[in-house]
Amino acid sequence: MAKIVGGLTTSHVPAIGGAIAKGLQDQPYWKPFFDGFKPAQEWLEQVKPDVAVVFYNDHGLNFFLDKMPTFSIGAAAEYRNADEGWGIPTLPPFQGEVDLSWHLIEHLVEKEFDITTCQEMLVDHAFTIPLKLFWPKHIPVTTVPICINTVQFPMPSAKRCMALGQAVAEAIQSWDSDKKVVVLGTGGLSHQLDGERAGHINKPFDLKFMDSLVSDPAWATQFSIHELVEKTGTQGVELVMWLAARAAVGGPVRTVASNYHIPISNTAAGMMALEAVA
Ligand code: DHB
Ligand code: FE
Repeated sequence: MAKIVGGLTTSHVPAIGGAIAKGLQDQPYWKPFFDGFKPAQEWLEQVKPDVAVVFYNDHGLNFFLDKMPTFSIGAAAEYRNADEGWGIPTLPPFQGEVDLSWHLIEHLVEKEFDITTCQEMLVDHAFTIPLKLFWPKHIPVTTVPICINTVQFPMPSAKRCMALGQAVAEAIQSWDSDKKVVVLGTGGLSHQLDGERAGHINKPFDLKFMDSLVSDPAWATQFSIHELVEKTGTQGVELVMWLAARAAVGGPVRTVASNYHIPISNTAAGMMALEAVA
């Protein structure tokens, strides 16, 4: 059976893609952010996962406001990147892990999650930038994208996203394969890009949330989506991706790397690498 090796979480600010393209990693603005990934990159070089299951939110590239699935999963052999308006260079296509996609889809529907199956899927900055951050030279993993709507109300609760992650863990653990799987969650942490509270950041909440992923993963499920927006900003609610990814690791975890840096763009940029220790 497949093995879950751990979880990786990060913010996915588009400007990071511009900084990578221009080679700005060692400039004073960017260095504290990019340096945070080094221990995670070293851990990945040792553990060598084969597949990445990526929880992220599409920002209007693949789904627009007229058709907005709550949960959707890619089942394609290849995922092409396109520019959804930020002007960052696009990356070459990402390879799918079709067998795991269908295994996940069958398991999730069996467990009464009403998901949208996508045999074609474009991927945006929230999928591409995190993969590039964790594997800066060459991306060696095949992928399964899982989108959670955090763009348009109504949105699934943190509790529901955690349950989705738990069902994904069961599915990976029952996948008939000897491959090693790592789970990614991208988005957050606290940020608000528009409106009266543009620039809103809540450092105490973010740090407590990061801590809870190791010691008490269900902590954030006490909050409704509206409470999360109030605490973390309209886009801060993307942190449900971290919760789903943590739940999809399954059992207890050990922290390999953790970094929190303010700000990148208007956003509190966090990252964690968590190794499964069960
Ligand atoms: C920014 C953050 C995001 O999560 C995003 O999807 C787009 C932009 C930002 O901080 O600039
Ligand atoms: Fe975002």
